[in-house]
Amino acid sequence: MTVAKRALDALSQHHAKKAPHDMRQAFADDPLRFKRFSLALDDMLLDWSKCAVNAETMKLLHELAQASEVENRRDQMFAGDLINTTEKRAVLHVALRNRSNRPIRVDGKDVMGDVNRVLSAMRDFSTGVRSGAIATASGKRISDVVNIGIGGSDLGPAMTVLALSPYQDGPRVHFVSNVDGAHLADTLKGLDPARTLFLIASKTFTTIETMTNAHSAREWIVKHLGETAVPKHFAAISTALDKVKAFGIGEERTFGFWDWVGGRYSVWSAIGLPLMIAIGPDNFAHFLAGAHAMDEHFRTAPLAQNLPVRLGLLDVWYRNFHRFTTRSIAPYHSALKRLPAYLQQLEMESNGKQVDMAGQLLTFGTSPVLWGEPGTNGQHAYFQMLHQGTDVTPLEFIAVRDAAHDLPGHHSKLLANALAQAQALMVGQRDTGGHKNFPGNRPSTFFVFEQLTPESLGAFLALYEHRVFTSGALWGINSFDQWGVELGKVLARDIEPRLASGDVQGLDASTAGLLARLRPRP
Ligand code: F6P
Repeated sequence: MTVAKRALDALSQHHAKKAPHDMRQAFADDPLRFKRFSLALDDMLLDWSKCAVNAETMKLLHELAQASEVENRRDQMFAGDLINTTEKRAVLHVALRNRSNRPIRVDGKDVMGDVNRVLSAMRDFSTGVRSGAIATASGKRISDVVNIGIGGSDLGPAMTVLALSPYQDGPRVHFVSNVDGAHLADTLKGLDPARTLFLIASKTFTTIETMTNAHSAREWIVKHLGETAVPKHFAAISTALDKVKAFGIGEERTFGFWDWVGGRYSVWSAIGLPLMIAIGPDNFAHFLAGAHAMDEHFRTAPLAQNLPVRLGLLDVWYRNFHRFTTRSIAPYHSALKRLPAYLQQLEMESNGKQVDMAGQLLTFGTSPVLWGEPGTNGQHAYFQMLHQGTDVTPLEFIAVRDAAHDLPGHHSKLLANALAQAQALMVGQRDTGGHKNFPGNRPSTFFVFEQLTPESLGAFLALYEHRVFTSGALWGINSFDQWGVELGKVLARDIEPRLASGDVQGLDASTAGLLARLRPRP
């Protein structure tokens, strides 16, 4: 029997004992439970004392991590090995925020020189845009920046620009992702073409949504300002430099990155340019520094004190032993409104896999469904089900001690609600009549930040990336490819001309029937 199999069997037996039977009892038995099951790192505290674990569970999970060689796999990532085997690529988003400049090599070449060169070009460009030194074709100051991108080329910058809005002191930044023309049209409605800069963000520069929006944006500029204005109203962020050139964007306005940066891990690269323009290069450097500090923690802390490892282990415990199929994200901070969407891509595109590294079908579950809304909004929508529904959904609370505004009477209510919801889920309430009975013993984790700063946000996102890495490593899957999004893209290319021609040959009856219904009226 392998060491990993032995560790798994030990966990199964432990789970069969229903340990810990009841969190309420666990708190009663151990007055130090909060202290033992929480950890502070800089200004972030993670409390997992309201999780369905005890000391024995954590010990057995750590044994599983050791047996599954998580540390070895982590070291391979930091060493630039080609751990994304299906695409034969290294996975080095950690190099993008490697503030120590410790050499990180791909194929024997240290990538830090290239990383720092692009960062410095981004710094010059964003400083110019923010100060007005880089102006539009008519010499006007840029008042609005529109980022056109989708998936990893949208969610990271869109989420972080909103999350760090108290630091925003640059031009307004907008995000257009959907191929639905309404998204671009609605955004352009309020904008002055003579003061607008478009950033076309696409790793591949082929993504249909982004290229369709980019061409429409180009037409809008040409219509209002003429063809000659184009170079001063566009910049590009991409790994496909030849395609950017063909679009008509000059080299001096093209910010590159590399194939070892996955889309969902790219906010630290030139894809973060909208954030740098919004909050300034110094704050962006703090964002990178926060992530780097977390990288160093993940790289060096022993398993038992390693926060991302701990969370990844809990995720596996919940998914494979408790068989929880979803996890709900509850940021009690409205600026983190887009966080659930960002985490959906990070976790579900990374770990939503059904085969192992060798392509063999797995016999256990992988990524849970992530979902959520900011608190307190979610309380008035789906928390009913979380408290009294038939399924148990672990919740992840995120709360910030200091308010990001100065309106009196709000923040204490917000924080009280976060605490009360986590408490109610765990404590429950007895009612013999049934309807008002809360079973309780429902698990949650709780993150506390002192303030939401560029550093703390950077650290939190890096923590999440490494947590996803850990669960992916335990499952033995490739967390860095995304073949599952390809088939739909191919089929859409076949279907689009059929909408015009009406040709339904070879289509299944449902697709044919729907297509007929959706065809434009003559
Ligand atoms: O949807 C698949 C995907 O490849 C994501 O992984 C990626 O973030 C997104 O599309 C955008 O891709 P690109 O940056 O190449 O336009």
